[in-house]
Amino acid sequence: MEFFLDTADVDEIREIAAWGILDGVTTNPSLIKKSGRDFKEVVREIAGICSGPISAEVTAMDTDGMIAQGLALKADLPDNVIIKIPCTAEGLAATNVFNEKGIDTNVTLVFSAAQALMAAKAGATYVSPFIGRIDDTGHDGMNLIAEIMEVWASYDISTKVLAASIRHPTHVLQCIQLGAHTATMPAKIFRQLMKHPLTDKGLEGFMKDWAAVEAAGNA
Ligand code: E4P
Repeated sequence: MEFFLDTADVDEIREIAAWGILDGVTTNPSLIKKSGRDFKEVVREIAGICSGPISAEVTAMDTDGMIAQGLALKADLPDNVIIKIPCTAEGLAATNVFNEKGIDTNVTLVFSAAQALMAAKAGATYVSPFIGRIDDTGHDGMNLIAEIMEVWASYDISTKVLAASIRHPTHVLQCIQLGAHTATMPAKIFRQLMKHPLTDKGLEGFMKDWAAVEAAGNA
């Protein structure tokens, strides 16, 4: 399973990349706003830190505009940058064009299995169902991942399911169990996934005993 970081904060990306388990990065206009930096400049820097796919989102609402923005991003930015496109009819048409040109895409803001399948048929490299935002409406976002994986099991689909809008480590574990190909999450969740109180407690005990070994001159 691929683990992506959902951030435009280069310090966080460097921190998690150093662990050796970072497969890619997703950004969106809100994350770029939060970074306070120039869009292309920050995406270029991210693409230099992580060699995996880096999603850069188009902001045009019409197909031609999305295609023009996507091509400009591909021309200006490193090869590992892929084009993130909203899951609209216009976005589907743009995805189809990028697919024909051999340009990788991430179709985002997916909230139903039907949308995911249509994006896959249009040639999306990744589809991004948003779990947390469904949870926020009082429904269970994980059901969407289960539905999509069930559809994927019935057909020969090469598009990867990129679980997004992840709010806690349990979301990630459930995605792993359901066989989602990729999960994108904030740095906080990477840290939570690595933390276990019994690891901390065990280490504390080992360090205390090792201090005694050293004190006895046996180290
Ligand atoms: C995915 O690519 C999106 O950037 C992201 O996961 C959205 O998550 P949010 O609902 O926490 O904003």
